[in-house]
Amino acid sequence: MNISKEKSTGKQKFELLYAQDVLDRRIKEMGRIISRDYAEKDPVIIGVLKGCVVFLADLIRNISIPIEMEFILASSYAEGHTSNNHVSTYGGAEIPLTDRHIIIVEGVVDSGQTVVAIIDHLKKQNPASIEIVTLLDKPSCRTVDVDVKYVGFDAGENFVIGFGLDDSQRYRNLPFIGKVVNN
Ligand code: IMP
Ligand code: MG
Repeated sequence: MNISKEKSTGKQKFELLYAQDVLDRRIKEMGRIISRDYAEKDPVIIGVLKGCVVFLADLIRNISIPIEMEFILASSYAEGHTSNNHVSTYGGAEIPLTDRHIIIVEGVVDSGQTVVAIIDHLKKQNPASIEIVTLLDKPSCRTVDVDVKYVGFDAGENFVIGFGLDDSQRYRNLPFIGKVVNN
């Protein structure tokens, strides 16, 4: 599947990387695993906006144990495809997190800087544990050491869009994961 987009800089193409049915199956499986691992733990799911939203909506409906949910806004990308080193976090939890088991939900982990900044921020409240679940992972792009416990799919070194992930705020609504193809 190819999608073309016109930009002032020219044309960019995307190609299908993970189809909707493939994503659905994997997310169901991840929900089952998390339900098993967190039975009796009453976890707080913290979604990292905005990229988490589609994945999180599907994931939580496949979690069969009680959960609470919060969102945090973080950004390490300004515009375009390269990471910078500054990560800002906004908002945060109304739910007291002391002694709670936190599951951070991300759309994609790239350099790891965003999740590390969020973990540092959340640790101030002395939670019982913090783990990360991400739909897509790019382990070869890490610039910081971070342990991502639950990974949906490897995205290689591709810049990916769809299923909540954007390219300059576009394409979050695509119901599949595409990769940007350089001209
Ligand atoms: P990190 O801090 O480098 O791990 O980047 C994580 C954040 O950058 C994610 O929350 C996304 O917002 C964004 N990001 C990283 N890689 C991609 C990608 O391939 N597509 C879209 N957004 C990405
Ligand atoms: Mg982005």
